[in-house]
Amino acid sequence: MKHILAFESSCDDTSVALIDTDFKVTCNLVSTQTDHANFGGVLPELASRLHMQNILHLTQAALDKSGLRSEEISAVAVSVNPGLIGSLIVGLAFAKSLAWSWQKPLITVNHMLSHIFANFIENPAIQPPFLALVVSGGHTELVLFESLTHFEVVGKTLDDAAGETFDKTAKLLGLGYPGGPALDLAASSGNPSFHSFPRALKRKEDFNFSYSGLKTAVMEYVSRQDADFIQNNLNDLAASIQQAIIDPLIDKTLRLAQLRGIKTILLAGGVAANSALRSQLAQKAASRGIKLHHPSLELCVDNAAMVGAAAIPKFLAGEFASLDVNAFSTKGTRSL
Ligand code: KG4
Ligand code: ZN
Repeated sequence: MKHILAFESSCDDTSVALIDTDFKVTCNLVSTQTDHANFGGVLPELASRLHMQNILHLTQAALDKSGLRSEEISAVAVSVNPGLIGSLIVGLAFAKSLAWSWQKPLITVNHMLSHIFANFIENPAIQPPFLALVVSGGHTELVLFESLTHFEVVGKTLDDAAGETFDKTAKLLGLGYPGGPALDLAASSGNPSFHSFPRALKRKEDFNFSYSGLKTAVMEYVSRQDADFIQNNLNDLAASIQQAIIDPLIDKTLRLAQLRGIKTILLAGGVAANSALRSQLAQKAASRGIKLHHPSLELCVDNAAMVGAAAIPKFLAGEFASLDVNAFSTKGTRSL
């Protein structure tokens, strides 16, 4: 069996994993940097320093836990874009050093692609063609896969990402950071029809998204109410905002799937953890004969097992990176 050692350090989670070429995960350790909560968002400089502190210990722990020796590892994989450039460089420099000293091939991976490939860990039998809805803190994309290596980004957000909208509107309601999980929880006992917030680009024929208008609408709504009103109706407001975020995601994903005759949808990225998005999309997809896959909660958030999973097709095709490869922060799902 071939084992890949994988690294993820694109934002505020340091993660090291071991995965074999059948998508079986031996070990997936994640160290989440909680220090950023004091600043209400991720501080890039601090993130890089914490990755630097964590990565060696985490690698040693992953190797100990898996019981694998360096001779039993066939390749080293690492995410190189998109992300915070300083954070990406820590993971890449560390992965390069190991690849060089152990004389193993290096595989570079696009972080958004790795979110999509998280689905294969629990469902290795998924076959293309499929449509991926990638929703994270920085991205909202609809990506159509003809094969595991050929894909087209059909739609994306024109401004804010879905996760960013969860975080910013949760902050306006006083729910703290990161806002997505807090808003999800508050919304679970709320009424989504309490207030109708705007759904952008609803009638547009394309598959793009826009969330800046919703953010402004929530800001204006909150500023017109007194603090007691917000507190007393917190769950209903959270549910109404959440529904305004997820409605366009659900509508456009299903419309694109139907237009292209796609029967498999993969949900991916941090926002794929959202309970309302998972259940409503699954139910509406099923009623159209479409199967929805989503990773389990721990594989929706940033982790290195998904980086290893995305590296498997490249490993099998012998697509290796040279040791002078660099990280870059360009947005989007790429073939890298
Ligand atoms: O993919 P991810 O872990 O990091 C990025 O690559 O951005 O996504 C993080 C995003 C954050 O915006 C967070 O608020 C959101 O995912 N998120 C959620 C939930 N869990 C995480 N959003 C809505 N509902 C959730 N349950
Ligand atoms: Zn991510």
